[in-house]
Amino acid sequence: MGSGKISENLILLAIETSADETSAAVLKVRHGTINLSSNIIYSQILTHGKTGGIVPEMAARAHIPKILPAIKLALENSGTSLRNIDCIAVTAGPGLITSLMTGVDTAKALAFALNIAVIPVNHLEGHLLSSLMGQNFQFQISNFQKLFPAIGLIVSGGHTMLVLVKQIGRYKILGQTVDDAAGECLDKVAKILGLPYPGGPEIAKLASRGHATAIRFPRPMFNSKNYNFSFSGLKTAVLYFLRDRGELPTSNSRLRADIAASVEQAIVDVLVAKTLRAAKEFKVKTVLLGGGVAANQKLQQTLKRQLKLNIPHSKFYIPHSKLTTDNAGMIAQAAYHHARAGRFATFSKVQADPNLKLRSWSL
Ligand code: KG4
Ligand code: ZN
Repeated sequence: MGSGKISENLILLAIETSADETSAAVLKVRHGTINLSSNIIYSQILTHGKTGGIVPEMAARAHIPKILPAIKLALENSGTSLRNIDCIAVTAGPGLITSLMTGVDTAKALAFALNIAVIPVNHLEGHLLSSLMGQNFQFQISNFQKLFPAIGLIVSGGHTMLVLVKQIGRYKILGQTVDDAAGECLDKVAKILGLPYPGGPEIAKLASRGHATAIRFPRPMFNSKNYNFSFSGLKTAVLYFLRDRGELPTSNSRLRADIAASVEQAIVDVLVAKTLRAAKEFKVKTVLLGGGVAANQKLQQTLKRQLKLNIPHSKFYIPHSKLTTDNAGMIAQAAYHHARAGRFATFSKVQADPNLKLRSWSL
């Protein structure tokens, strides 16, 4: 990663194709304010709904016809054009390699043609910082310093992770899932209940009609001393519950709603307990929520309430709903911090890395 000078005013194009969303965004920085001026997301939900989950080869193919239209529309919606772009941010990993490559190769080709730099961004850093954008997609740069140290809870279909954010760019992973991610668990339980993909929003909808205390499903690793998570046993517990009762999951709508509510509650209980414990141990000023499961209302409300009760002085940041599931807007805003630190790469050095780890980049 090279370094270079960047002016205080900046227009950045970002691209995200790590899984099943094709997304492009434009971020403008002017007079100390960051403004996410467009964020186009083409979802592949209809494609993957037919197979009940992402098929990597199909996801990769589906990005190809969408990537250039997404970029074109992101530029149009922000009232700008390619020749005004100062640099291009792109998700370099982690993710599905064939999906990542579409975004990375497009970013490299544009950077080469326009003779501008690339900022490779870790997808997890995007989720981690997504809530900083604010509900109006703006943020005052001078406010960043007041937020740290912070605890970030990333909850998505691929990851469940607690991160200590000492400063932007200084990260320590406190714990993560040892098996299924929280979103993956919701998707699998949804499949058992015969609900469409992605399961998280479907479970939440069904849960609103059920009783969260109806069934006491296990809270895996709730009392473990570390900050790791485990959710694969929860899906198995649902399967055993249905087997033992001899019920078909589709036959009893009252029971389905109770299962959804009880599973949602079990996941929220574990996530909230561990986040609170970490926030207290590291005496943080802020808790940052990110990832697809961050859209879950029960999780948002429970964490908000518990933080207010237990750490009343803490701030709680929730991403705008458009920044929860995968999107280029969150990549653009994470990239801004790299740009400010002068961390740019020439296009030929940027590679997609499906196993990219979240690491500190500033000391
Ligand atoms: O961040 P994301 O788009 O993809 C990954 O990086 O993995 O997260 C997708 C996950 C899916 O598992 C989906 O079921 C879940 O987020 N999700 C939700 C909600 N909306 C999406 N889970 C619970 N409640 C929701 N409202
Ligand atoms: Zn994601």
